[in-house]
Amino acid sequence: NLYCVIMAGGIGSRFWPLSRVDKPKQFIDILGTGKSLLQQTFERMSRVCPRENILIVTSSAYSSLVNEQIPNLSPNQVLLEPLRRNTAPCIAYATYKIKQQNPNAIAIVAPSDHLILNEDIFLDTILKAAEFASNSNALITLGIRPSRPETGYGYIQVGKPVKEVPSLFKVKTFTEKPNLELAQKFLESGEFYWNSGLFIWSIASISAALESHLPEVNSLFKELLPIYGTDKETETIASAYSECRNISIDYGVMEKADNVYVFCSEFGWSDLGTWGSLYTHLPHDPNGNAAIAQQLMLYQTSNSIFNIPKNKLAVIQGLDDYIVVDTKDVLLICKKQDEQQIRNFVNDVLMNN
Ligand code: GDD
Ligand code: MG
Repeated sequence: NLYCVIMAGGIGSRFWPLSRVDKPKQFIDILGTGKSLLQQTFERMSRVCPRENILIVTSSAYSSLVNEQIPNLSPNQVLLEPLRRNTAPCIAYATYKIKQQNPNAIAIVAPSDHLILNEDIFLDTILKAAEFASNSNALITLGIRPSRPETGYGYIQVGKPVKEVPSLFKVKTFTEKPNLELAQKFLESGEFYWNSGLFIWSIASISAALESHLPEVNSLFKELLPIYGTDKETETIASAYSECRNISIDYGVMEKADNVYVFCSEFGWSDLGTWGSLYTHLPHDPNGNAAIAQQLMLYQTSNSIFNIPKNKLAVIQGLDDYIVVDTKDVLLICKKQDEQQIRNFVNDVLMNN
C-alpha cells in the first residue's frame, strides 16, 4: 500500500533561461545525463513503489510534457491543476485521490527536481520512514545536515530521538524560509536540519493534519471524493482550484503540526535550486570550471559554469566566477555570486515581453 506523489508544477525560475515557464527545470535534462529530472525522479521512486501507484501532480499546461517523458501512465496517475496554488493544494488533491483508492495507503511525497546521489541509502531511508508512518500518526520529513545559512529552505529543530528507529527524531520547531539572521543562528546552534521537501506519512495522518491546519483547503478536496475518476473530475477540480488559496505545505501544515518527525540521513542531496548549486555537483576542470557543453574553448577562465547548446562552439576568455547560459533565444551572463538576481531578471523579461 505504498504510493508516491511527485510534485511537478513549479516553474524553476532561478534556472532561467534554461528553465522556462513553458518547460520548467523538472522537464529538462539539467545534468546532461540524457534524462530529465522528472524522469530520474520517476525511475528512482519506481524502485520502492509499484509504477501504477506513482501519481504526478502538475499544471494542466504540462500535461503533454509529462505524457511524452513518462509514457503509458493511466489518466488516474496524472493529476492536472488548472491554476498554480503551491504545494498544499497539490498535496490535498493527491491525498484524496489516493484515499479513494486505498484509505490505508502510505504516501511518499517527492519534489520532481532534486538530485539524489546515493539512491540506495535514500530508498532504505524511505522504507524505514514508511514503516514508522504506518504504525503512527507521524508526518515525517527527510532532514539534511545544513552547510550554509540558506534562506530558501525550511529549518527543522531536532528534538528527542525515537528509540526504536535510529536517525529518527521528533521535531521541536519547523521554520520555513527564515531571514538570513535567523538562518545564521540556526546554523550556528547545531540543532537544526534543512527540510528536504520530501515527506512520508499515512493518508490518514495527512488528511487529519490538513483538516486541522488548513480546513478550507481540505474541505475543497475532501468533498470531491465521490467525483474522482469520473468524467466530472476536470470540471469540479477547476472550480475547487479557483476557490483555493495559494499556500505551501510547509507554511500551511509543517510549521503548525505537533506530530512532525525528521529522518536525518545522508544520501547526497541537492535541490539543484540554482546554477551555483548545480555548479557544486558537476565535475570541475583544473581551473574550477564546470560545463554542460560539447564545444567549449576556455582561456584564462576559472570557477565558472557554462551551459552551451550542442551545435554551438563557445570561445571564452578572461572570466572568473561567472554563469554563462546560452539557449536558442536567450543568452545569460551573470556573476555567480549574484545569481539570486536571476529571479528579478526573469520578472523583468516577462514584464517587457
Ligand atoms: N503540482 C504542483 N503545483 N507542484 C508544485 C507547485 C504547484 O503549485 N509549486 C511547487 N511545486 C513543486 C515544485 O516543482 C517542486 O518540485 C516542489 O513542488 C517544491 O516546490 P518549490 O517551489 O521548489 O519549493 P521551495 O524550494 O521553495 O521550498 C521547499 O523545498 C525546500 C527544499 O528544496 C520547502 O519544502 C522547503 O522547506 C524546503 O527546504
Ligand atoms: Mg525547490
